[in-house]
Amino acid sequence: MMKRRQFLGLAAALPVITTFGGWSLFNHAVSAPRFDNTLFLPGADGPFAVLEPNEPLTLVAEQGWLSVPGRGETPFLWYRTKMNGHEYQNPILLLRTGDELDVTLDNQLDEGTIIHWHGLHVPGREDGHPIQTVNPGSQYEYRFRVTNRGGTYWYHTHAHHRTARQAHQGLASFLLVSDDDNEALNDALGLELGNTDLPLVLQDKRFDRLGHLVYQPNPMQRMMGYLGDEVLVNMTPSATHEVQRRLHRLRLLNGSTARIYRLALRADGEAVPFQVIGTDAGLLESPREAHEAFLSPGERLELLVDFAAFAGGDRVELHSLEFEPMAGGGMMGGGMGGGMGRMMGGGMHDGDPLALLEFVVREGEAVTAEVPERLSRIEPIDVTNAAERDIRLDMARMQWRINGEVYDPDRVPIEVDANTQEVWVIRNADRSMPHPMHIHGFSFQVLSRSGGPDFVREQAVNEEGLTVADLGWKDTVLLWPGETVRIAIDFTHNYEGDQLYVFHCHNLEHEDNDMMVNVRVRA
Ligand code: C2O
Ligand code: CU
Ligand code: CU
Repeated sequence: MMKRRQFLGLAAALPVITTFGGWSLFNHAVSAPRFDNTLFLPGADGPFAVLEPNEPLTLVAEQGWLSVPGRGETPFLWYRTKMNGHEYQNPILLLRTGDELDVTLDNQLDEGTIIHWHGLHVPGREDGHPIQTVNPGSQYEYRFRVTNRGGTYWYHTHAHHRTARQAHQGLASFLLVSDDDNEALNDALGLELGNTDLPLVLQDKRFDRLGHLVYQPNPMQRMMGYLGDEVLVNMTPSATHEVQRRLHRLRLLNGSTARIYRLALRADGEAVPFQVIGTDAGLLESPREAHEAFLSPGERLELLVDFAAFAGGDRVELHSLEFEPMAGGGMMGGGMGGGMGRMMGGGMHDGDPLALLEFVVREGEAVTAEVPERLSRIEPIDVTNAAERDIRLDMARMQWRINGEVYDPDRVPIEVDANTQEVWVIRNADRSMPHPMHIHGFSFQVLSRSGGPDFVREQAVNEEGLTVADLGWKDTVLLWPGETVRIAIDFTHNYEGDQLYVFHCHNLEHEDNDMMVNVRVRA
């Protein structure tokens, strides 16, 4: 078999090969970016360091300057805090199930903002609902107990109508919750957070000529989604990372405003299988081998990758494979796709193949480990008494809608009773685009997926049509054009009184464009 390196040499020497129609692999291989920046990983303090809060925290939302590997300094929005003599920006908050979190948001931006705890089960008052947006110079106090199971959660701005820009410019980080299952897994495999257990946030960004982040969507991008022209992993463009010859846990978060990734690993141009061990809200019952998985904005995916199978010096690349975002949904889908897709991206559209990150395997003894058969226990939500609710996603007058409505802060189109279960039947219009739908305050389970494009149906791992990214406990689920996805939500809680949340699209341009509804959970 021809090795990739020889192959690159050959293709460069014979450029005529690259013009062969259909041999897209050649084109991409030749233009593949070099991975020349060391992946940014959390340190002891500074940007994205791991912080285990053991006292009340004040997070100051402000503009600072972030040094981007290989790039220089850019204005950046972050949450700054101090604890135990260290200063942190956008800390990765590390908590354990049962811990109390006491945070004061201090808004030192020149516009409104609010923090939302994505995936956490909290009372409405603590949620960071967009109507809680606080003015410049004002504070908002949060105090709640973390009741979620262990998992890879995150926190980010939810400023009303300003979420996409503030998130693109920096206001987001991880919130990791640990529990017995997570500790048992990391102990069994000898994994260590920040070393062999890696939080990795994927974000596409745009920079101007000075190397400053720019968020300037045109009207089309405001409607469809703003795509960056490069993808950063942990704010590192063209990132490379050295790994030991052993298992690694990758905690992937799609923190992009609009881009969807079709994740796959490649070594010498060949697919490398991985084990999916977790999704949005923690570990699956058992690991599941996969070759690819979709990750839409807001979703998380936890993988185990075994670098012990490689030799020192081998390179394993994380890619996003090509796909057609508007495919499916019958005749109109494809036609709408090409044109709109191209207009929104300025040359790069969602679904373009991308190289995201390179792992370089270090020389040394391979460490093998047995992955536990059972990672956690997942009780299926009991839907025998569940009410069914229809949710339709479509577009009218250049706005994406939920059940025919755009967001009205004074209306509460969805009211459910506390301590009941519901099945939501979410249908995306045929003539549409992918929408990652997210609910605040509660996790759900995906029951079935149907009607989507072939490349999604081909990924089904069971008879209900679920993909590997649909398994386990979820808070965000992707709907392709023409799809119907059924989810079960358990609205059990013990908070006093009525609670207000939102259900919205996590394409943040769609959210800011009011693809969102209020959800009241009645006491
Ligand atoms: Cu991560 Cu309402 O969002
Ligand atoms: Cu959320
Ligand atoms: Cu959407």
